[in-house]
Amino acid sequence: MNNLISDIGVYDKKASEVCEVRTSKTSNTGNDRKLYIESYGCQMNFSDSEIVSALMIEEGFDTTSRPEDADLIFLNTCSIREKAEQTIRKRLNQLNSLKKNNPGLLIGVLGCMAERLKEKLLEEEQIVDLIAGPDAYRDLPKLVSQVDEGQKAANTFLSREETYADINPVRLNSNGITAFISIMRGCNNMCSFCVVPFTRGRERSRDPQSIIAEATRLFNEGYREVTLLGQNVDSYLWKSSVHSGNTSPNTMESERPVLFADLLRMVAEIHPDLRVRFSTSHPKDITDEVLHTMQAYDNICKYIHLPAQSGNSRILKLMNRTYDRTWYLNRVHAIKSILGDNCGISTDLITGFCTESEEEHNDTLSLMNEVVFDSAYMFYYSERPGTPAAKTLDDDIALEVKKQRLNEIIEKQSKHSLTRNQMDIGKIYKVLIEGTSKRSDDYLQGRNTANKVVVFPKENFNKGQYVYVKIEDCTQATLIGKVTIKDQ
Ligand code: SAH
Ligand code: SF4
Ligand code: F3S
Repeated sequence: MNNLISDIGVYDKKASEVCEVRTSKTSNTGNDRKLYIESYGCQMNFSDSEIVSALMIEEGFDTTSRPEDADLIFLNTCSIREKAEQTIRKRLNQLNSLKKNNPGLLIGVLGCMAERLKEKLLEEEQIVDLIAGPDAYRDLPKLVSQVDEGQKAANTFLSREETYADINPVRLNSNGITAFISIMRGCNNMCSFCVVPFTRGRERSRDPQSIIAEATRLFNEGYREVTLLGQNVDSYLWKSSVHSGNTSPNTMESERPVLFADLLRMVAEIHPDLRVRFSTSHPKDITDEVLHTMQAYDNICKYIHLPAQSGNSRILKLMNRTYDRTWYLNRVHAIKSILGDNCGISTDLITGFCTESEEEHNDTLSLMNEVVFDSAYMFYYSERPGTPAAKTLDDDIALEVKKQRLNEIIEKQSKHSLTRNQMDIGKIYKVLIEGTSKRSDDYLQGRNTANKVVVFPKENFNKGQYVYVKIEDCTQATLIGKVTIKDQ
């Protein structure tokens, strides 16, 4: 089933807006009705689209890469910033012409925007027939039948239990080598700027056995890297007695709660050739135990995405991030002392949050100077209706100022990315080959443990192999080198 659907997505990443669109590819199992699915936003959403595809294929739908051929179009949407929602509204507008040509076409909006706006979206966008929130995907076949009967359909109930643990996702956009595994859903953190707790509900962890089974299955199919996904992976927690209601006296072992460090160890032990990554870590929760576990296993990649958001303690407090600048820098220090300076560290930063002064913005710049991140996702603050910040704080920084500050941090980060990459020149890295380089068919590309993209001449090497590459040159985004020793 994996090769029915693969990569034909458009990739468009600007520093100020992460916008990635991915779509399904054609499959043909002789079914009448064809589904076209387009995903926006974060990796969790892409992962969910793989679950939705699995559920719909099970219900007898084929998938198509061409919206023109579809009987059913799903947009899996994001609400994180205003611009993300505007993009979806524009896309819905474009789909109007398709609907005119094919009045039977069914259009569904899934994901965070459906959850945030609920039935209001059905009223505002006449073209939409169906909405389903992130916890309602098992209900999609029923919702589609309801639309078939001439009604609009909606399910935006959030669950405290749903993890889709038993669904075997259909890998969309797959290179056959790297895959994402969702280990938890929702978020309990309530950062004041963030809409995610409202669109994805309470945090819940997935049964570790189902995670191990999925990772093992992927390894057996030829995958060589899994990324464990959650909004805050460090708060992963599985208590089997609570989850299964098992109180039998001979289950002592299984009653010990499984923490994130335990899960990491369990996945790493599947096979030394299976690389393990994870995202996202929260500075308040990342433990030394996780760092020591990373150090203990060669196949756990030495890379941490640790969103700082701001370098100023007053702003961090207003953001309800529950750590201050000193705490953040201490965690970076712990990473560097346990894992060494070669461990990749990236971050997320927001400029122009409510009441941020020029001096406080300078604290973000100075935090960047202290850490020297390998890379960063940078945004200007976008107020989201219903969030604690929208309710209690003034969005009082002018757009031009937010953008000006954003440009300053982008400029600094470009220099730092280049500096960090230049430090790698002359070093030899183990690289997992992911495919042909985007720029030239004569080159292959993969990543090193620190998540840096490494490009090198193709020779006779193949996707899925591990090779050792000596770095000879770099840009701010890429390391360039040659294979020196071939692994086995
Ligand atoms: N769970 C992750 C982040 C999820 S959202 C974490 O806690 O780090 C990804 C990033 O989008 C956030 O880290 C933040 O930098 C940015 N973001 C979230 N809400 C935003 C808003 N209202 N305006 C601008 N950027 C925002
Ligand atoms: Fe949003 Fe904060 Fe949760 Fe991340 S940790 S998803 S920023 S509320
Ligand atoms: Fe967007 Fe929802 Fe992810 S708001 S960033 S798709 S969790």
